[in-house]
Amino acid sequence: MRTKKPMTKMMGNATCGTKMPTNSHPTTTTAAYGESWYWDKRYASSSSGSGSESEASFDWYQKYPSLAPLLHLYIPRHHRVLVVGCGNSAFSEGMVNDGYAQVFNIDISSVVIAAMQRKYSSCSQLKYMKMDVRDMNAFEAGSFDAVVDKGTLDSILCGNNSQENAAKMLQEVGRVLKDRGIYLLITYGAPNYRLHLLRNSCSWTIKLHVIAGKLLSEETSQCQAWDLTFPVPLDDDGISTEAVLGKNPDVHYIYVCIKDKKHESTI
Ligand SMILES: C[S@@+](CC[C@H](N)C(=O)[O-])C[C@H]1O[C@@H](n2cnc3c(N)ncnc32)[C@H](O)[C@@H]1O
Repeated sequence: MRTKKPMTKMMGNATCGTKMPTNSHPTTTTAAYGESWYWDKRYASSSSGSGSESEASFDWYQKYPSLAPLLHLYIPRHHRVLVVGCGNSAFSEGMVNDGYAQVFNIDISSVVIAAMQRKYSSCSQLKYMKMDVRDMNAFEAGSFDAVVDKGTLDSILCGNNSQENAAKMLQEVGRVLKDRGIYLLITYGAPNYRLHLLRNSCSWTIKLHVIAGKLLSEETSQCQAWDLTFPVPLDDDGISTEAVLGKNPDVHYIYVCIKDKKHESTI
């Protein structure tokens, strides 16, 4: 299985809290991950086959089969799902092949959206739209039962004005979700980097799950330190999580944020 290039620069600061791999170009830093021009350029080179990523699709962090048991737990297959910052990931295709009936996808990159619209033109369960997750006014409030985010909040947190942009994004996610809707956030960010952001943006009940951090093949996805479907104890500062998993564990964190009814009166 193909994996990302080794990480050449780590975003170790408290804002990002994210270890995302950098582009192979030596002058590009992870700050560009918050910019649409960066993604357009990356996806254009990926589709032409001339760049460092010539594959037609790439999944950050995890592929669909590894996370499917968690989706089954929280998102019924007939629910209306929005995948934000879908990129050219095969995750949504995986959901549809697994029986999910309505999967909407947005991305800020017009290049990748055009490619995905072409690729899935005959799949009625999948819709692709170019949209900025910070401004989803094309969707009415309460339009979705679930929002899935794999790596998009992380990208925004690497960019300029990261806190402001992340807050806008999370407010919009809260707005487009129905009462008791689920925001499923798959991220490198540990609770001490993500919890305050989530809690300041919307009124959520939050559960935390973890999965081993390497891109796992379907065959090896059983080998996990902590059972994916068991929530990890979570307190306000993430200390309980550290007590269970140790310091800096090699995991991806999955925050299951359930929108509280009272959210509507707080915005
Ligand atoms: C790290 S990639 C993750 C792609 C995909 N979700 C996956 O798991 O493979 C981040 C994606 O977020 C998109 N993105 C970044 N900022 C965005 C924004 N403001 N609105 C919508 N999409 C955005 C990028 O174009 C990119 O496709």
